[in-house]
Formats: sequence, C-alpha cells, structure tokens
Amino acid sequence: MKAQNHGLVFAAKHAILLFVGVSLIMMVALAAITLSPHSLTKYLLNIGKHLDKITAGSSGAPLSIFNTSSKVAIITDATFTNRHIPLILHFNSVLGPAWPIIYFTSQSIAETYLSPASPNSSAVWNRAIDDGRIQVRIVPDSFNLTTRAGVNLYLSSRWLWEQLHPARHVLVFQADAMICANAHKTVDDFLEYDFIGAPISPNASLYNGGLSLRNRSMIMDLFDEGLEFANERNTTKDGEDFWFSTKFGERGAKLPTTETAMEFACQYKFNMAQKRPVGYHKIHKKAQSHMAEIAEWCPEISLTAPGRLRG
Ligand SMILES: *[C@@H]1O[C@H](CO)[C@@H](O)[C@H](O)[C@H]1NC(C)=O
Ligand SMILES: *[C@@H]1O[C@H](CO)[C@@H](O)[C@H](O)[C@H]1NC(C)=O
Ligand SMILES: *[C@@H]1O[C@H](CO)[C@@H](O)[C@H](O)[C@H]1NC(C)=O
Ligand SMILES: *[C@@H]1O[C@H](CO)[C@@H](O)[C@H](O)[C@H]1NC(C)=O
Ligand SMILES: *[C@@H]1O[C@H](CO)[C@@H](O)[C@H](O)[C@H]1NC(C)=O
Ligand SMILES: *[C@@H]1O[C@H](CO)[C@@H](O)[C@H](O)[C@H]1NC(C)=O
Repeated sequence: MKAQNHGLVFAAKHAILLFVGVSLIMMVALAAITLSPHSLTKYLLNIGKHLDKITAGSSGAPLSIFNTSSKVAIITDATFTNRHIPLILHFNSVLGPAWPIIYFTSQSIAETYLSPASPNSSAVWNRAIDDGRIQVRIVPDSFNLTTRAGVNLYLSSRWLWEQLHPARHVLVFQADAMICANAHKTVDDFLEYDFIGAPISPNASLYNGGLSLRNRSMIMDLFDEGLEFANERNTTKDGEDFWFSTKFGERGAKLPTTETAMEFACQYKFNMAQKRPVGYHKIHKKAQSHMAEIAEWCPEISLTAPGRLRG
C-alpha cells in the first residue's frame, strides 16, 4: 500500500515536471519569436531565477528562508557516512535557529544522499532543508579535498568566504567535531572574538580550525589587501588556521586567552584540563586516553569519528 502510494506520488511528480518542462519550452519558443535578442536574454535569466527557487527545497521552499544574515555554520566533507546526518542535525539543534548550516560537498554525494529527490534520503534531513535550517552546496571541481594542501587552499579561498556573505560570524566544523548539549555556555557567548578554536599551544594565540568561530569581515579584509595563504606559507606543512590566527594577531584582532579558548573547544592533551567545554575536535587522534571521561560529559561525542578530511 505504502509502496503503491510512493509510486503514485513519484508518477505524479514526474507528470508535473514533464508538464512544467514542456510549458517552459513552449514559452521560450514563443518568446524567441516575439522578443528582441536583448529582451529574450533577460527573459531567460528570469526563468533561471525561478528554477533556482524550485530546486532549493523539495517542496519548492525559496532560498530566502535560509537565513545567513549574521551567523552561519559550515561543514565541508567530500565523503559521506551514516554519521553525517545525525551529527549535522545535532549541531542544528544545539546551535539553534539563528545558525543555519551549510554542508559543502561533492555533486555526487549531494545527489546520492542529501537530495530530497534521492530514494535513499533521510526524511528528517529533508524536513530540515525544507525549513531552511540546512542547505547543501557543491564545492567546485577546482578544489581537491583529498589532500591536506587542497583542504588548506579551499578553507583559505576567497570563493568559500564569499559564499558565506553576508554572515559576520562563521562557525567552521568538521565531521570529527562535536558541540555538547550539556555545556553551560553556547557558541554565541564567544561572538566577541575574531577567531576562537582549541588552543594549539599554551603560550601562543594560535587556534585549531576544525571547530572554530571566525570573523568573516576580517578574513575578507585580508583578501582585499591581496594576502593569500598559498603565497605566504607551505600549504602542505602549515594549516590555514595557523595562518589566519597569525594574521589576525598581527592586526590586533580580539583573540581569546588560552583558558577562554579551552572553554570553547578542546582537542589537545593539555586542553583536557578544561572538563566542560562547549565542544571538542579530533580527540580520537589527539586525546584518545580521555575518551571515556569526555563521553560521560558529552555522550554525543560518539557521533564523531576520525575524519578523512585532512585540514
Ligand atoms: C534571521 O536572523 C536574524 C539574526 O539572527 C533574526 O533577527 C531574524 O529574525 C531571522 N529571520 C528569520 C526569518 O528567521
Ligand atoms: C539505496 O538503498 C537501497 C536499499 O537499502 C540499496 O540497495 C542501494 O544500494 C542504496 N543506494 C545507494 C546509492 O546508496
Ligand atoms: C587530488 O589530489 C590527489 C593527490 O595529488 C590526486 O591523486 C587526485 O587525482 C586529485 N583529484 C582531483 C579531482 O584532482
Ligand atoms: C611554547 O610552548 C611550546 C609547546 O607547546 C614550546 O615548544 C615553546 O618552547 C613554548 N614557548 C615559550 C616561549 O615558552
Ligand atoms: C570583525 O572584523 C571587523 C573588521 O573587518 C571589525 O570591524 C569587527 O569589529 C570585528 N568583530 C565583529 C564581532 O564583527
Ligand atoms: C613543504 O613542506 C613539506 C612537508 O613538510 C615538504 O616536504 C616540502 O619540501 C615543503 N615545500 C617547500 C617548498 O618548502
């Protein structure tokens, strides 16, 4: 019965798509006959805009619902596991409605697992997309996310940060990061900082980027001044997070003390002095002996796994 219904809905959807397609072709043909080349171009661009809206959500929810006005969270991953959807939905729930999330991935992962049109997609995920809480975007093929240098170039690219316009605050997280629903503070308690993440060293203002909050305008300032990570650093050896932290420090950005940064995120063994942070990153690699203690405070840590994205 259920399968039959699905079949009917499927057939109905395709009939509607066919009808829309044929109508569009007829309208364009008619316009081509009656309009000047200039008006025709404008007309076609307009149809393009409407199609964008149609493809934004499975029920035609326009992109405008998706609110990036001041804050946005992003995850990038060119791989997919069954952990990704629960993990991202958990971030959505803990961050709250003022933090829409963008999942940047490859075309094939988007089509196979994350599109409402895929027969295997998650119903709960599709609802979040329809509500404008989550959005999927495709990373251009010019970025290679399978190497450390490629990931660094992507995360320090003008392309990415322009995508996030007009957000002022960007939370970057990876599939090996988690924010804890038991935490006494939220990400919003750290908005005053231009860059915050797990402190890499006890005596330097350097922060890891895998779970980090960043001031997007300041990043755009660096690009506007012609500064580029790839021109200044060895992209294989150094991380974009190291570069951004250093550049921010040089221009007098507001950066947290080691103690404050550890309240936000923990990753390295020396960070574990902080027992109740807002979140964690890459602890499977860096602080494995603390896993049991962390799981007691932050049971959702089990949704994270050693990441394949090498940042
Ligand atoms: C979008 O976000 C801003 C700032 O967080 C908020 O004031 C506004 O109400 C939000 N709009 C919608 C439609 O959620
Ligand atoms: C979709 O799910 C079906 C049934 O579980 C499975 O056979 C198929 O391989 C899945 N397709 C993809 C692309 O994962
Ligand atoms: C990405 O880089 C790796 C290592 O250099 C290479 O093997 C792979 O083919 C590259 N992928 C693309 C899509 O360029
Ligand atoms: C800062 O800490 C690192 C270890 O994280 C150490 O190697 C370095 O010598 C320290 N620098 C100073 C100035 O204390
Ligand atoms: C972010 O950076 C800009 C400079 O580009 C600065 O004006 C602003 O105060 C910074 N902080 C916040 C929270 O926006
Ligand atoms: C960049 O760093 C890598 C890894 O440490 C090293 O193998 C490579 O020679 C360095 N490249 C340059 C141009 O220094």
